[in-house]
Amino acid sequence: MFSYNNILIYVFALVALSVHNCVQDTNSSYVKKDITSSEEKPRPVNADKSTFEENSKITRAVLITHCGSCHQSSLDSHKPEAIKIFDLDMATNWHILLSMENLSGIASRTKNKSVITEQQKEAIDIFLKLKELQLKE
Ligand code: HEC
Repeated sequence: MFSYNNILIYVFALVALSVHNCVQDTNSSYVKKDITSSEEKPRPVNADKSTFEENSKITRAVLITHCGSCHQSSLDSHKPEAIKIFDLDMATNWHILLSMENLSGIASRTKNKSVITEQQKEAIDIFLKLKELQLKE
C-alpha cells in the first residue's frame, strides 16, 4: 500500500510537470516574416478570428479618420481608383480586396503619422501581419 502511494505521487508529479511544459509551449507561435521591417524581432501574434476582427476594426477606425475622404465610397470626395484598393464603407469586409503590396502601402502611410497613437499602430501592425498570413494561405 505504501509503495502504491509512492507510485501515485510519482505519476502525479510527472503529469504535473508535463502539463506545465505544455502550457509554456502555447506561447511559441511566432510570425516569421515582418512586412514593415525585416530587422524587427518576431513577436508572438495570436492568430485567432476574434483577434483579427478586433484589430481590423481598430485599423478601419483609424483609416476612416485619415484616409476616408478618398477611400469611403459614400463620400462625394471619394476617388474611384482608391475604392478599388479598399472601401472603408464595406464594414467588416473593408479589407477583402487588399493585396500583399497594399499591406506595405498601408504600413508605410501610417507608421510615421504622429497623430496615430502607439496603441493604434500596434493594432494596425497586428492586423497587417494576420492579413498577410491569410493572403498566404
Ligand atoms: C486624396 C485621396 C487619398 C487619400 C486621403 C488616401 N488615398 Fe490611398 N489612394 C488614393 C488613390 C487615388 C489611390 C489609387 C491610385 C494609386 O495607387 O495611387 C490610392 C491607393 C492606395 C493604396 C494602393 C497603392 C499602394 O501604394 O499600395 C493604398 C495601400 C492606399 N491608397 C492606402 C491609403 C492609406 C492607408 C491612406 C490613409 C493614411 C490613404 N490611402 C489615403 C487616394 C487617397
